[in-house]
Amino acid sequence: MNENTIRNSDPVTADAGTRVDAPAAGETRQREGAVRPLPEDAIAILAVRNVVLFPGTVIPLTVGRERSRAAAQEATRLQRPLGVLLQSKPDTEEPGPDELHWVGTTAAVLRYITAPDGSHHAICSGVKRFRVLQFLDGYPFLAARVQTIDDPAQVDADIEGRARSLKERALEILGLLPQVPQEMVGALNAVEGPAQLADFISGMMDIGVEEKQSLLEIFDLKTRLDKLLDLLSHRIEVLKVSREIDEKTRESIGDANRKHLLREQMRAIQKELGEGEEGAAELADLEKAIAEAKMPEEVERQARKELKRLERMPEAAGEYSMVRTYLEWLTELPWAAEPQPPIDVAEARRILDEDHYGLEKIKRRILEFLAVRKLNPSGKSPILCFVGPPGVGKTSLGQSIAKATGRKFVRVSLGGVHDEAEIRGHRRTYIGSLPGNIVQSLRKAGTRNCVMMLDEVDKLGMGGFHGDPASALLEVLDPEQNSTFRDNYLGVPFDLSSVMFICTANVLDTIPGPLRDRMEIIQLPGYTAQEKLQIARRYLVKRQLDANGLKPDQCEMGDEALNKIIDEYTREAGVRNLEREIGNVLRSVAVRIAEGKTEHVAIGPDDVASILGPRKFDAEVAMRSSVPGVATGLAWTPVGGDILFVEAARMPGNGKLILTGQLGEVMKESAQAALSLVKARSSELGIAAESLEKSDIHVHVPAGATPKDGPSAGVAMFVALASLLTARSVKSDVAMTGEISLRGLVLPIGGVKEKVLAALRAGITTVMLPERNRRDLEEIPAEAREKLTFVWMERVDDALANALTNPAR
Ligand SMILES: Nc1ncnc2c1ncn2[C@@H]1O[C@H](COP(=O)(O)OP(=O)(O)OP(=O)(O)O)[C@@H](O)[C@H]1O
Ligand SMILES: [Mg+2]
Repeated sequence: MNENTIRNSDPVTADAGTRVDAPAAGETRQREGAVRPLPEDAIAILAVRNVVLFPGTVIPLTVGRERSRAAAQEATRLQRPLGVLLQSKPDTEEPGPDELHWVGTTAAVLRYITAPDGSHHAICSGVKRFRVLQFLDGYPFLAARVQTIDDPAQVDADIEGRARSLKERALEILGLLPQVPQEMVGALNAVEGPAQLADFISGMMDIGVEEKQSLLEIFDLKTRLDKLLDLLSHRIEVLKVSREIDEKTRESIGDANRKHLLREQMRAIQKELGEGEEGAAELADLEKAIAEAKMPEEVERQARKELKRLERMPEAAGEYSMVRTYLEWLTELPWAAEPQPPIDVAEARRILDEDHYGLEKIKRRILEFLAVRKLNPSGKSPILCFVGPPGVGKTSLGQSIAKATGRKFVRVSLGGVHDEAEIRGHRRTYIGSLPGNIVQSLRKAGTRNCVMMLDEVDKLGMGGFHGDPASALLEVLDPEQNSTFRDNYLGVPFDLSSVMFICTANVLDTIPGPLRDRMEIIQLPGYTAQEKLQIARRYLVKRQLDANGLKPDQCEMGDEALNKIIDEYTREAGVRNLEREIGNVLRSVAVRIAEGKTEHVAIGPDDVASILGPRKFDAEVAMRSSVPGVATGLAWTPVGGDILFVEAARMPGNGKLILTGQLGEVMKESAQAALSLVKARSSELGIAAESLEKSDIHVHVPAGATPKDGPSAGVAMFVALASLLTARSVKSDVAMTGEISLRGLVLPIGGVKEKVLAALRAGITTVMLPERNRRDLEEIPAEAREKLTFVWMERVDDALANALTNPAR
């Protein structure tokens, strides 16, 4: 490099023709001198920091440095192109050969501009690639001997094809870019020749200078085109993705903005109408309620989240009231864990006795339950379930338990609940959804320390399309799970562990098994007439006096009157109708006293008849069974026991058996069995076998609309048939129950207690029961045992011996 070096001290004069850097006259003179001419193959070099000039493109270059200006002037003076080289180290102020790339572009300076702020710019048009062969020393500017590089004049198909795709891709990019001036597309289309196209695109591309420089340094056109194609493809992918993202964000921003604007407008309108303040007050109230509700952390967090949502919502939005209702529910539930009220067992005994007559065994069991709870409050005590016919005091026992333990009492009726959601609530996404009835009654109770009575668990619908209500109830009752009971509507757990649950049912067998296993069953069979009288005397009359605004000294109701009501106006296991009839009597007394007709009334049996009208229940038994072919059976029903009649009739025919009265399969079969048994004994009974063949037998069980089933009417059917065919009537004060076998055995049955009480109510004096039910005798109230005669049957012949009257003839 050094052999061509020109001494550094040799001055160079600027071309006076250019208006650049117009030096003071004296100064110019001073520096004037012989200029060392550049060699033929050398050019002045302009070092640039941050642009790459490509052949065929035009760019403005800033000419700031002294040496740059000198270079530009020299190029102009010599009318040679200016060599533009990129600095490899942009920070260097006076770059030497080592701080420059050695490949650049020769440029024609189209114009030279001095900007108003004094900076200089050259508008350069790229001409050709060049490679530096040698830098020359000794000039006041950079100078180098260079070799220019020509692109091939001949274009083959390879290059042609690449050039075409390059153009397509470039156009595609322009299409993807926002706001591309139409001229740009025109310019691109106007470019001719693959090399020119490559350089034009290279210059335009939005890539780093170093990358551009590397494009410039690819001398082989085909390689350069490939490299460019690659770059453009990548670029297209990036643009497409970013455009997608762009569109998405633009959409969502647009949407959010619109909503925000609308909301603002709505606020303004509401404010104008004076409505917003109300809403604000409401929000403040809710906020306060949340703070005071003593919610667990998780719940409070949820509540505040919903409140935030509410604040951002316009009041008129449908969702607003939904969220508000939800928050009201949340804030009004008894979250606070209060200490459980202490249990005073002696006081509990007093209250139970005060409210209920008799029921000694049941009261004892309840007191045991309370005592255990008192000694071990956190222990998993069983759930009581009262089972018995209506009106026997299940609900009122529950109320007494609440009173005795100082708890609030709430009822949840489960009768006919088919949908799990009734227990557990509907999800909030449903319009008009609400919490389930467990949570609803907790809000009513206002405390978690309550007695919650789940009524009619036996009438709970079976699991089906809407989920299984029984399994939801299991979760409620399970001490392992109910501390985090989740209502669908609330969506947060609620602790039910301090609720005291008591269930009631009329029937045991329809309570879902898993539920029954979890409960301690307490049976209430129903009352005898004597017990009913006591209950009426001690409780029902007093209560009805009170209810009708009468004072005890204004009205007296004697035992005879009460007995008349019990016997002739009611037939039930419980005392509900009894209380109602007493109420009816007292109401009419109240009217007379209010009218001033009298001041004191003593009600006797005749008054009952004149007030309540003709008796509602007869001693039906005597009337019905006075003809042959009718027997009195005993049935067990969900409402306690009852008597039933079996009627048999005979008509000419050919030995058919007709059965009516909505009999179930089992009952029909026992009628068949009864007839077979009678036929088998026809000679003993004195029945002419040939007369049987020429007649049809009809067996009917009245109360025909009620379906009946079960084997326990077998004995009654047998007796009715035997009575019919022997023409001996059945004793009117005898009732019977028992299953029969074809060998003539009497098999045991269930529900003895209820059946016996029903017989007593109906005025029966003799009850015939299977021998094998003798062990149930002790369950039967003493009063019933005293009043009734019991016949224990081993075989059907025992029934005939005791039930049939002597032959009429
Ligand atoms: N042993 C009793 N002593 C005093 N009152 C009684 C007794 N048994 C029942 N009662 C009264 O009879 C009425 C009916 O009782 P309750 O409502 O508890 O019946 P229930 O068993 O819950 O019936 P249901 O199955 O129809 O709900 C109540 O007013 C109750 O106080
Ligand atoms: Mg009840």
